[in-house]
Amino acid sequence: MNVHDSERLAGLLESAGYVPVAEGSDADIVVFNTCAVRENADNRLYGNLGHLYPAKKKNPAMQIAVGGCLAQKDRSVIRDRAPWVDVVFGTHNLHRLPVLLERARHNAAAQVEIAEALEVFPSSLPARRASQHSAWVSISVGCDNTCTFCIVPSLRGGERDRRPGDVLAEVEALVAEGALEITLLGQNVNSYGRSLGDPGAFARLLRACGRVEGLERVRFTSPHPRDFTDDVIEAMALTPNVCPQLHMPLQSGSDAVLRRMRRSYRRDRFLGIVERVRAAMPDAAITTDIIVGFPGETEADFADTLDLVRTARFAGAFTFKYSPRPGTPAAEMDGEVDPAVVSERYERLASLQDEMSWAGNRAQVGRQVEILVSEGEGRKDSETGRLSGRARDGRLVHLLVTGPHAEDGVVRPGDVIETVVTRGAPHHLTADGPLLSHRRTRAGDAWEAARSRGAAGDRTTGEGTAGDGTAGEGTAGAAAGAGRPAVALGMPTMRPSSPASR
Ligand code: 5AD
Ligand code: SF4
Repeated sequence: MNVHDSERLAGLLESAGYVPVAEGSDADIVVFNTCAVRENADNRLYGNLGHLYPAKKKNPAMQIAVGGCLAQKDRSVIRDRAPWVDVVFGTHNLHRLPVLLERARHNAAAQVEIAEALEVFPSSLPARRASQHSAWVSISVGCDNTCTFCIVPSLRGGERDRRPGDVLAEVEALVAEGALEITLLGQNVNSYGRSLGDPGAFARLLRACGRVEGLERVRFTSPHPRDFTDDVIEAMALTPNVCPQLHMPLQSGSDAVLRRMRRSYRRDRFLGIVERVRAAMPDAAITTDIIVGFPGETEADFADTLDLVRTARFAGAFTFKYSPRPGTPAAEMDGEVDPAVVSERYERLASLQDEMSWAGNRAQVGRQVEILVSEGEGRKDSETGRLSGRARDGRLVHLLVTGPHAEDGVVRPGDVIETVVTRGAPHHLTADGPLLSHRRTRAGDAWEAARSRGAAGDRTTGEGTAGDGTAGEGTAGAAAGAGRPAVALGMPTMRPSSPASR
């Protein structure tokens, strides 16, 4: 969600006339879009602001803006700790960024503006999409749940659903521009429509996406096990473009811990959903989020988590050490787990999950897979001469382009290929055999057109995996252009995809 908000911020800045600068160049504006879900996000922001201080001192006209969840949480504290920040804005008023920058410049005074409620649904704002072939589409923002560890509801507010017609219009527009894959986004996608008295709305939305001509892959994140009803499983199984993939946060395999987390499902219900999803879609890759060391977690509770992980055979998991968040009920609970015990449990969980992910990936060897080729997902691609992309089930695949389809490097990001998996590693698959097919797509054409305009180079940077269930902070920077400062986008590039790796 934060990554998509960053796309909106970048789009707003571009619409206001700002121009991106290339990565590594000096920018006149730097925007941090922050995350507050765990404590290390706080530390990272203040560290990053400290790093920028010398640049700001050298060039006082440079502007620094901080927005998003941490800004909503810390408000004027950001200015107290880093007085060189020019603009602070929250989660509910992203659209104000250009005005606040302008005002800070004009008045030569910092602007701190935090709204208490959502002012403009972010999806009505322009976006600068990080990828031509895969796009995020918000269906709701905020969350009505009260998980005791989670700071999100207090920073993002209650759930606000977008009208299905608006969601579909955005999906259709994206597909018309070349997108092949969309990921529907919401803090709890399964409660979509409930506030409007329409509990079947999410399943219907999936089916409606199935009727969008040219849309090849539909994913969503994240469902809540409490609200996961069988009509959604049925819609997934019966809608051909909905991918055989599910990211469903578990948090803990212990009923006692789930109760204290105020997650109102129990391990049996979770496993029941996993079973029904597998019955309907035998090849579905199921991934999850797990927190280790929640207050009061005993060795027996943790053993329940390990047991569930073994039974569920997750294709991947984002695992987190519990981090107390101010204002949340869990932060006041007794029973803090000794950090050394948390670390030791974390390692045990991570190695069990690695084992499970690896076994799942080895079982893919010999399978024919369809891959949507992406950009920036293979750290070693330039060394190994491989391309990377995602299979329909969200698994990350590195592949060699050989055989008749290899000529002139014609396979472009956004194109779709078929090949056979030759090796399964813990966090990715390799496919080094000849390509079985290569389909040039509108998304590939769009990528090529953008590259020839010279725009592709600054579209994406870095690795595609966040290694982290929530995308962290993103930064956008800007440098002076024709009368207007310009923006360098250090956009985070967690793609709409599942955590094929932790
Ligand atoms: N401590 C650790 N992990 C957390 N998450 C959310 N809040 C916390 C916290 N206080 C994790 C959950 C959630 C994911 C996005 O982040 O697993 O699903
Ligand atoms: Fe936080 Fe997700 Fe629980 Fe909502 S459902 S309170 S976002 S963990």
